[in-house]
Amino acid sequence: GDKINDIIDHKLFSEDDIHEMCVRLGKQLTEDYAGKRPLVVGALKGAIYFLTDLTRQMDVAHQLDFLDVSSYGDGFESTGKIKVVTDMSADVKDRDVLIVEDIVDTGLTLKFMKDLIKKRGAKSVKCCAMLNKEACREVDVDVDYYGSKVGNEFVVGFGLDFLNMYRNIPYVGVLKPEVIQKYVNK
Ligand code: PRP
Ligand code: MN
Ligand code: MG
Repeated sequence: GDKINDIIDHKLFSEDDIHEMCVRLGKQLTEDYAGKRPLVVGALKGAIYFLTDLTRQMDVAHQLDFLDVSSYGDGFESTGKIKVVTDMSADVKDRDVLIVEDIVDTGLTLKFMKDLIKKRGAKSVKCCAMLNKEACREVDVDVDYYGSKVGNEFVVGFGLDFLNMYRNIPYVGVLKPEVIQKYVNK
């Protein structure tokens, strides 16, 4: 079947682990953005679950926006080609922008977003990611804040998808290889 227990090989980060990440990062961001009014930009779609938990741990008045730049499409490997699918609505000029991501892998998506926001005249552009797949980096980009490093495993849940599915799994887990195989062979 394709119930959560049938597709997940093992759990990597539990709901408690992720909550602790949000508390720690939220405290740090509360200090670092004190006296500022940051624009928090969620990278659609993966960031939304982490963003709602993270921002509720931030005692900083901020505004929210979203940017959808996709590189993976509906597939599960980066195409390397990034495009703006849906642009944000706010003007970022002179703003302190905090990009929220679920994961930074090759870094191509984050670099594209940071470059775009800087080019539009933001005062500062930083990123807070739930997970940092540092070993897979292909471009040099700072992940200014992150919850945890993660190895080169295909992770799903808490926003992370496989074929745009399984984002709603309430923890981060590793898919069973046969689930991936089932779709790859089609
Ligand atoms: C995923 C993930 C990050 C990006 C990381 O998004 O959410 O945004 O890829 O990969 P990179 O560092 O190699 O660029 P995706 O493009 O799959 O869109 P999604 O958030 O809608 O799943
Ligand atoms: Mn994404
Ligand atoms: Mg994706």
